[in-house]
Amino acid sequence: MINKVKGTQDFIDLTLFNYTLEQIRAHLQKYNFNEIVTPILEPTQLYIHSLGTNTDVVKKEMYTYGENNETCLRPEGTSSMVRAFAENNIEMTPWKVFEFAPCFRYERPQKGRYREFRQVSIEIIGSPSVAQDAWLIKTIDALFSGVFKLENFALHLNFLGTPEDRKNFRTVLYDFLEKNSAHLCKTCLERKESNIMRVFDCKEAGCQEMYKNGPKITEYLCKESQAEWAELKKQLELLSVSYNETPTLVRGLDYYNKTVFEFSSPDLGAQSAFCGGGRYDFLVSQIGGGADQASVGAGVGFERLMLLLEQKKDQLALPQKQELAVVIALEPSQNTLALLVADTVVKNGVCTDVLIDDTSIKSKMRKANKMGAKWAIVIGPDEQQNRTAVLKNMVTSTQETVAQTELVKKIKA
Ligand code: HAM
Repeated sequence: MINKVKGTQDFIDLTLFNYTLEQIRAHLQKYNFNEIVTPILEPTQLYIHSLGTNTDVVKKEMYTYGENNETCLRPEGTSSMVRAFAENNIEMTPWKVFEFAPCFRYERPQKGRYREFRQVSIEIIGSPSVAQDAWLIKTIDALFSGVFKLENFALHLNFLGTPEDRKNFRTVLYDFLEKNSAHLCKTCLERKESNIMRVFDCKEAGCQEMYKNGPKITEYLCKESQAEWAELKKQLELLSVSYNETPTLVRGLDYYNKTVFEFSSPDLGAQSAFCGGGRYDFLVSQIGGGADQASVGAGVGFERLMLLLEQKKDQLALPQKQELAVVIALEPSQNTLALLVADTVVKNGVCTDVLIDDTSIKSKMRKANKMGAKWAIVIGPDEQQNRTAVLKNMVTSTQETVAQTELVKKIKA
């Protein structure tokens, strides 16, 4: 037996999967986002330029191939969408788009963490106002709490300021880490030198405890950044979006500036973030796409969202399966007629299947039952002769002989 690749999943029943996707699509279209599709294969260089060489994703998690590893399976959606914006010379901004697509990261698989997963990337390219950030967050919050009626989740919010703000903050943070270096874990000591803001992502309780009393980026913002941070919070409050200020939220990708946010739920366990995003004002130029376009976006982890929805499936208006009619030929000599009858019934909008395998009528009826059929349409030699069929209601176990031309009318009655 050849099994699936580690960290991938089969989705056998797509009821919840499709429902979730359709609700997201309808919601985002209501907020005037257009759906796009970009390739799953991208040049590796795209992520080296966008995410940064010092991120876990680029350092350890890329699925690359080619003689010089020049092509890869994409690890996230934003970079492709920004590349598509630049490459297709999109002029109309803000470009409000979303994309549902698989992403690939070579991570250690566990609940909610896969090597192949799906993201809904929601991007607003070419819009510098912080009010756009508030509106995007409101849009996403309305999806989770309004459409999906999720209750047990939190929105974590932080503000990373401008590159200048971060440069100043890094110096303050470096001094703080130097003073406390005896208490830092090995990873934090490394990050102190290579990608200092990422120390805040540390999983060690001791380090996290120390960072609670450490410097906070929002206390080292320039005047303009301070005003934007205050405005963002005020707008979210006016839009009735609850948030937690989380000074240690820095996000694992290097393209962010100013607003960053994450939606997380304790119901997910260790991999609690089911949506993350923020502002990325320099990404177009970073990937060589020309003039900068101030932008903001978010990625919804589709599998993690489904894990949350799975837990409250009963409360969702999942689509009901259509009523099924199964046409059963009693003997092989009625197979052709069974196909013709099925063709007429299905053409009239009834979900229809045919049981034409050479088994007994008893086992065919049992199978129809297992298939959840509401109707069995049985055709034997007599029915063939008389142009009739036995129509059995599988729910009430009542049956009658009806003319083949009357079948659809009877089923629909
Ligand atoms: P990210 O935080 O790396 O951000 O991923 C977004 C979401 O994808 C996460 O919150 C999580 O729910 C889901 N996710 C990430 N890795 C995995 C995994 N291995 N298995 C299952 N789910 C996963 C981004 O990728 C950014 N592109 C988001 C963004 C869009 N920022 C601005 N625009």
